[in-house]
Amino acid sequence: MKRNLLFLLFISAFCACKKEKEPVTQPVQPPVNTETLKSVATFPVGAAIDPNLATNNIGYRTTVKTEYNSITTENTAKLNWIHPQQNNWNFSGTDQLIAFAQANSLRVHGHTLIWHAFEEVDWVKNFTGDSAAWEAMFKNHIQTIVTRYKGKVKSWDVVNEAFTDEGKLRLDQSGNAGQSPNGSIWARKLGSDYIARAFQYAHEADPDALLFYNEYGLENQGIEAKLNAVVNMINTFKSRGIPIHGVGTQTHIGVSAPDAGITNALQKLASTGLLVHISELDILVSDWTNNPNLVYTPQLQEKQSNKYQFIAQTYKASVPPAQRYGITTWNVGDADSWIRTYIKFTDWPLPFDERYSRKNAYQGYLKGLKL
Ligand code: XIL
Repeated sequence: MKRNLLFLLFISAFCACKKEKEPVTQPVQPPVNTETLKSVATFPVGAAIDPNLATNNIGYRTTVKTEYNSITTENTAKLNWIHPQQNNWNFSGTDQLIAFAQANSLRVHGHTLIWHAFEEVDWVKNFTGDSAAWEAMFKNHIQTIVTRYKGKVKSWDVVNEAFTDEGKLRLDQSGNAGQSPNGSIWARKLGSDYIARAFQYAHEADPDALLFYNEYGLENQGIEAKLNAVVNMINTFKSRGIPIHGVGTQTHIGVSAPDAGITNALQKLASTGLLVHISELDILVSDWTNNPNLVYTPQLQEKQSNKYQFIAQTYKASVPPAQRYGITTWNVGDADSWIRTYIKFTDWPLPFDERYSRKNAYQGYLKGLKL
């Protein structure tokens, strides 16, 4: 008997140890029977997500399922991932995300069919052919993806970041309009009306998909030319009958980003009558400066929380209900953020921490969504 007891004690001690070794995968505060972002929001709230984390990390998966009703494909539908060689497609990551979304009633926003950054992919960079060959390749890229996900992906970022900060079309590498690396191989090879044709091709492939133009820095008061260029393009597309349904403003902002610029961007975008998506939200306490010694002080946490609250409130104040496509944060927990993994800054930009606990930023966001 005593031996059995000892054995049991040993086993439970072992289990307890094991448990402690796995904190990263367990949400510290499982939000059971409490308010969640999606339960209080009057429009969709989402996160850009990664299929490996959604599959392998229970904290990540639980948080997405509990808090959100929309997802964006962060990387898996980008050309470099889904179409790594001219005649080679890799649909697995996006298929996985769609299966996850379908199993959990999540809306899927696809990101992104065309982006200047894809010219860094060797097969695109080295693609040879006349303008008809370029056009066929461009159309095939768009339509292969949109056709495959017809009825599964509700909306697409069709073109991402086509303008320079000066409000010119990204074009060439010799200063005509946006210098390298700010040029776009698509504009150079396909001509300046390539954006309109991208929308037409996507629409042909799935007439029910909602088609978005997506851009960054629109809240930056110093570069309002870019915001104006986007609004002009949308209005021109509308008058030409080009099928465009929405506009995404990425909103990768610093915690000190002036409120007026954020509101101005949302109001101007809403004035087009299109759906407006805050499409890639994160709020950098570093204010976009790399400082490895940065400390996430209570003051900074509070400031960030207030900014999350402000974003939710100004979105509601600036965008009429029928045009609110929603707010999407760019990933889930701080450790998953591209600001750490890709930009390599010391920062804490998201509403959840490394263990998927709700941060002060979360509380501000929740409050803003509720008010
Ligand atoms: C980023 C991803 O988050 C990173 O994982 C990836 O390595 C690079 O791209 N604007 C966009 C997104 O439109 O596609 C970018 O995503 C972030 C900036």
